[in-house]
Amino acid sequence: MTEPKWTVLIVDDEHTIRHLLRQMLQDKYKLSFAQSGAMAIESAKHVKPDIILLDILMPEMDGYETCDQLKANPTTSDIPVIFISALTESAEKVNAFKRGAVDYVCKPFQSDEVISRIETHLKLYNLQRHLEKRVEEEVNKCRLEEQLLIQQSKMAAMGEMISAIAHQWKQPLNQLGLIMQWISESFASGEADEKDLEEFVSQGMGLINLMSHTVDDFRNFLKPSKQKDIFDVTEAFYEVVSLFSNLLTSSAIHVQINTPKTRRIYSIGYRNELKQVILNLINNSRDAINTRRKKGLLTDDGLITVEIKEVNDKVVASISDNGGGIGNAVMEKLFEPYVTTKGEEGTGIGLYMSKAIIERKMNGKISVSNIDDGAQFVIELPLATPHGDIK
Ligand SMILES: Nc1ncnc2c1ncn2[C@@H]1O[C@H](COP(=O)(O)OP(=O)(O)O)[C@@H](O)[C@H]1O
Ligand SMILES: [Mg+2]
Repeated sequence: MTEPKWTVLIVDDEHTIRHLLRQMLQDKYKLSFAQSGAMAIESAKHVKPDIILLDILMPEMDGYETCDQLKANPTTSDIPVIFISALTESAEKVNAFKRGAVDYVCKPFQSDEVISRIETHLKLYNLQRHLEKRVEEEVNKCRLEEQLLIQQSKMAAMGEMISAIAHQWKQPLNQLGLIMQWISESFASGEADEKDLEEFVSQGMGLINLMSHTVDDFRNFLKPSKQKDIFDVTEAFYEVVSLFSNLLTSSAIHVQINTPKTRRIYSIGYRNELKQVILNLINNSRDAINTRRKKGLLTDDGLITVEIKEVNDKVVASISDNGGGIGNAVMEKLFEPYVTTKGEEGTGIGLYMSKAIIERKMNGKISVSNIDDGAQFVIELPLATPHGDIK
């Protein structure tokens, strides 16, 4: 005979009932017994039965009270309880179910009936446990994938930073090279005096400072915001555009920011994360403009127009470009991860992360449409006053 798989805890103050149940069930299950509610609670904690048969009428602590205590303890709360009782009133049955029982068997009972009820609830209970485990596994898997995406998007942002730094450094590095050359040439020819040398050194130090500031600026850019802050939305746009201005001008792309002249527009949330979204959108516009230009479809300069407005209780920022717009096939799943038309060059996570940041972290919305000769993204954010209240 195979070892029984499941353990049943039988709780009854009457010896004859315990004996009867033992005879009915001992071939099929591992059995454990308790003579009172208090003993049942203790043994449920240690034995961890798969199901409990619980008598209602018992001295001191009755079945209902016992059930309440079992349900209140996290280690025993999930174990299904079947009440066993001579009480046949339907009010009693209702009460039993209200206390969290899964079933009710009336005395005197038939062996077949008890076994079939136990079997049904064991099956249900295991199905539920199995499902819970599956759900947990799936949730963990999603969490892992999400972390991977965040990691990948950080790497992508880092790549952007490095190429922007390289661009920002090109000019000062060239100048430093020239200064070094001047120093050595004028020393060889004996032309430079001490004052010239000082001048060269101070120019060189100026350039080195500039380069070190660039690195700090970019390093700050990548730091996640620690907490929600009130910030000037226009300023956030300017900060991104100025950091990447060299890269943009080298692609002959102008960025125009339109914002009310007389008042500042504030929002509340994670400023650095918003700046990453802005960078994603600007980079996408830049890529679209460059591709269009390569195909010979754009002879004018590239143009990215940012419009920042207050509309009712929202900040609305739109980012439009003249990069030719988004194809229908991509448009439908634009914000899904790994959707890209850039082959090896693209990651397809920029817009996915942007939507997650705007909608899940900043309580905002992001949407997209095609306009005349390009794409337009619209970001909505909560409007805040400089003192911190959300309007
Ligand atoms: N401004 C835009 N103009 C044209 N196409 C765009 C624009 N922004 C996004 N797209 C399209 O959406 C796709 C997904 O963008 P994104 O999630 O940032 O990933 P990636 O830039 O790595 O491809 C791009 O590959 C491109 O086809
Ligand atoms: Mg992108």
